Amino acid sequence: YGTTAINKNGHLEIGGVDAVELTRDFGTPLYVYDVALMRERARGFKQAFEEQNIKSQVAYASKAFSTVAMVQLANEEGLSLDVVSGGELYTALAAGFPSERIHFHGNNKSREELEMALDNGIGCIVVDNFFEMELLKTICQKKNVNVNILLRVTPGIEAHTHDYILTGQEDSKFGFDLQNGQAEAALKTALQFDCFDVLGLHCHIGSQIFETTGFLLAAKKIVEQMAGWKNELGFEAKVLNLGGGFGIRYTKEDEPKPPSQYVSEIIREVKILTEQFALKLPEIWIEPGRSLVGDAGITLYQVGSSKEVPGVRKYLAIDGGMSDNIRPALYQAKYEAVLANKPLARTSETVSIAGKCCESGDMLIWDLPLPEAGKEDILAVFCTGAYGYSMSNNYNRLPRPAVVFVEKGKAILVVKRESYEDLVRLDLPLK
Ligand code: LLP
Repeated sequence: YGTTAINKNGHLEIGGVDAVELTRDFGTPLYVYDVALMRERARGFKQAFEEQNIKSQVAYASKAFSTVAMVQLANEEGLSLDVVSGGELYTALAAGFPSERIHFHGNNKSREELEMALDNGIGCIVVDNFFEMELLKTICQKKNVNVNILLRVTPGIEAHTHDYILTGQEDSKFGFDLQNGQAEAALKTALQFDCFDVLGLHCHIGSQIFETTGFLLAAKKIVEQMAGWKNELGFEAKVLNLGGGFGIRYTKEDEPKPPSQYVSEIIREVKILTEQFALKLPEIWIEPGRSLVGDAGITLYQVGSSKEVPGVRKYLAIDGGMSDNIRPALYQAKYEAVLANKPLARTSETVSIAGKCCESGDMLIWDLPLPEAGKEDILAVFCTGAYGYSMSNNYNRLPRPAVVFVEKGKAILVVKRESYEDLVRLDLPLK
């Protein structure tokens, strides 16, 4: 995994830092991010476009992991940024991210959120539905400002992934339907308003996708429509945004492609299609979230109690759980893990890793082969960088863990551990 290694103490080392020392310095549970790997992933996507001289934007979907330091890292790497709420936008602005490279998504952006975006010179708004288009137009006219927009369309693709993270199919809460004339009606409406500069089209077909077929099919459906709209409406899209969703390797069963391969296959297809329909090659934008940060994140936990159910299984509990990683409970997501203080020790038993929340479904990993483990041990769960911290919560009033970035043998704290005082900070007494 990334720049993990085993050091001379026989401990897991991440980005040149001893994982056990990290837990001594920063406590547990702890989210650790391997910065070099995040940079490598970002460069992989960008280079794939640059090598072929394709105008592009690689926007980091910050919902995967949004903090000030992460947004700053995305900026250092020359990425654009996808935000989906006033909170993510605020984080981006607080981090000093250039607003002209921020793209604003969401199926129910509020008036306040849209105003905040316009007041800060947002790069573009991805318009999701007619209600929003009307609201945005009214606000733009009132403020007397123009805005770049993309229209989000649902191309009717069934990508093979978990149902809850499927988004490109027709029956979806997102976007304008491409098939039934809704997208065309939206485009016609948008083109009537001077306050909108319609840059092009957006789609996102789902998440944790391994095959390129879905992306290519989406591109095909959209480019075909673009050709029609050029003839009928004289509209030629400058931008084709194909969203995110590139899969990563959580376990041995997962077989993602390298980022550059997704990109080069997409470029190839869009080139062929646009030539076929005599269209100008649009800029190609993508929005990876998980594939930029997912495998760079490792969560470290202290091992605690255990329980044997004779003849059935052994439960081994850690000091976190569904409050810092809700994905197993929500999506039956699978993870791999080792003991960070003895990653090479021979596995001697199969245990099931339980979280500490009062909920039977709070199980992190079922049937994990491990060496015999006890209270001295640190469990390192791999690939927790995406949708771990960002979906963390205070269930059972567990404070959120700290986040550290490690690079070239140095660790820096980028999110402080929540304290009990933080938990009651917004509470008001009865009287
Ligand atoms: N663009 C749009 C419009 C999206 O809706 C998403 C993810 C992305 C980009 C980034 O997708 P990614 O490259 O990260 O797959 N909580 C779920 C994932 C939800 C994804 C929602 N949208 C999980 O933990 O698997």
